[in-house]
Amino acid sequence: MPFATPSEATSQVHDLRDLLDVLEARGKLLRFDEAMCKDTEAMPLFRLQLCGVPEAERRVMLFEHVVGAAGQRYGMALLAGVYGASADILRIGLGCEQRTDVLQRVARAIAEPVTPELIRPELRASAPVHEVVHTGRDLHAVGLDALPAPVEEPGFSQIIRTGMPMITKDPETGVRNVGTYNAFIRDRTRMVAGISEVHDARRHHWATARRRGEDLPVAIVVGVTPTTMLMSSMGVPYGVDELALAGAFDGRAVELVPCKTVPLEVPANAEMVIEGLLSTSVLEPRLGFSEYPGYINVAEDPQPVLHVTAITHRADAMFTPMLVGFPPSDTNTVWSLANAAHLYHQLRHVAGFPLVDVEFPQAGAGNDICLLRVERDTAIDIVELLQSAADLHRMGKWFIAVDDDVDLADWSSVCWALSYRVAPERDIRVVEGRVAALDPAELPFAGDLGRRPTRVLIDATMKHAYAPVALPAKRYMVAAIERWNRRSDVPPLRIGGPWHSTATPSWSAADEHLAQLIVDGDYRAVGRITAGRQTPVE
Ligand SMILES: Cc1cc2nc3c(=O)[nH]c(=O)nc-3n(C[C@H](O)[C@H](O)[C@H](O)COP(=O)(O)O)c2cc1C
Repeated sequence: MPFATPSEATSQVHDLRDLLDVLEARGKLLRFDEAMCKDTEAMPLFRLQLCGVPEAERRVMLFEHVVGAAGQRYGMALLAGVYGASADILRIGLGCEQRTDVLQRVARAIAEPVTPELIRPELRASAPVHEVVHTGRDLHAVGLDALPAPVEEPGFSQIIRTGMPMITKDPETGVRNVGTYNAFIRDRTRMVAGISEVHDARRHHWATARRRGEDLPVAIVVGVTPTTMLMSSMGVPYGVDELALAGAFDGRAVELVPCKTVPLEVPANAEMVIEGLLSTSVLEPRLGFSEYPGYINVAEDPQPVLHVTAITHRADAMFTPMLVGFPPSDTNTVWSLANAAHLYHQLRHVAGFPLVDVEFPQAGAGNDICLLRVERDTAIDIVELLQSAADLHRMGKWFIAVDDDVDLADWSSVCWALSYRVAPERDIRVVEGRVAALDPAELPFAGDLGRRPTRVLIDATMKHAYAPVALPAKRYMVAAIERWNRRSDVPPLRIGGPWHSTATPSWSAADEHLAQLIVDGDYRAVGRITAGRQTPVE
């Protein structure tokens, strides 16, 4: 499938400072200048917004004066929600007005990546992320204590963490990987890296370092651009450089600077970098924190220890927490778009399915429910599309295909399709092949080694020519919209799914004639026709 032309704008967002200006100008930034406790106050406020404010009205929160429960004051601000307080905010950070622009630009970036560039040696000393450098004794004196990493679920969280892109390289080939993984803070220079064994940094780089009897150099990058966050959260094949995708998406190469203590390069405009060596010989329990299905995950799950060798940051650095857990959360917002963009690319541009859109709703953590919107009237095999989507996205549980008149962002529209376009025995299949990961519904089966977790494929498209949708014809609705919009005392319209009807092949000329008589006000003419068709009661 060829690329549609996405909006070609080169991103104006070089770093989070640029983004804050844009957000403030658009009324999407809420500053707090009073002292805010990172351990008990900041995240409950942010959560309150997620629970209690409609998505379109949510704002990024900047806590400018951060204190800790033990009385400490922080020199760094806390910037919450800059990646995913809402889907709108994420799109602003990506420089895209429309969701479909993101899908198109990701597809193009995968096809035509732009290699990142090292900044010139004479400019490296002034790289923003190296304005302040802590190594050696200086590092050991304060280290990670300087970071206002917040307690996310006070009363239940057993850890504080970074949930940011981690850069590693293959110790033998030098292939770079950038993956968003958690790292749990345990001491001034000790963390525990929560990289799943199926993910690239662990499966490839850590495994190779272990075989060689070495520790693995790691750079955790705090305060990257939303583009880099999106790319490092995307399950692209091993060997694809996520920073090259970020460069292509933004229309310019990502600028890198060499790390101070490890042989890696990091984005020069980030807020902060934590450099370190990931042990391949010592593991430490991870402990309880909120996981993407929306429950506290208390599994101890031993993970590799990370020994911090340097912390570098901007002079007035901001720490960016990345809330995970009960939906909605920043993580689910980012993961939802990352999963959708990647699957869209694979299904539309690689496999050639006539897909219009892919959505992973927040309530399914942006991961478990996959909605596929398909061009109508095409002769594609929907079961093949559903199975291909399931094969490509192994962590998904529900795969639902709908026609292109269904609004994927509107659950009532999706439920309508599920209600009246599905004959269960024909259109629903339960198939094997799921990687169930952290799904708590699978926990009771954990010891059953023979069990293969299943997923559900639902074809909720129309299989024959339906009667017209029961709505007015377009010309009457357009007139209604114009009248509505002329008033100043009514709320703005947000029209998603079907909003007018269209004749379908089952709608005959006789049907059209009757409807026209009614619109003309001549109901008695209709009555004369039906009178001629009267029948006796049998
Ligand atoms: C905010 C956020 C946090 C994440 N944390 C983790 C994590 O701690 N461990 C993990 O294995 N995957 C985590 N993921 C998922 C991975 O980032 C994602 O699957 C990505 O594709 C992995 O990159 P890779 O394919 O290069 O390994 C997280 C995703 C997001 C958006």
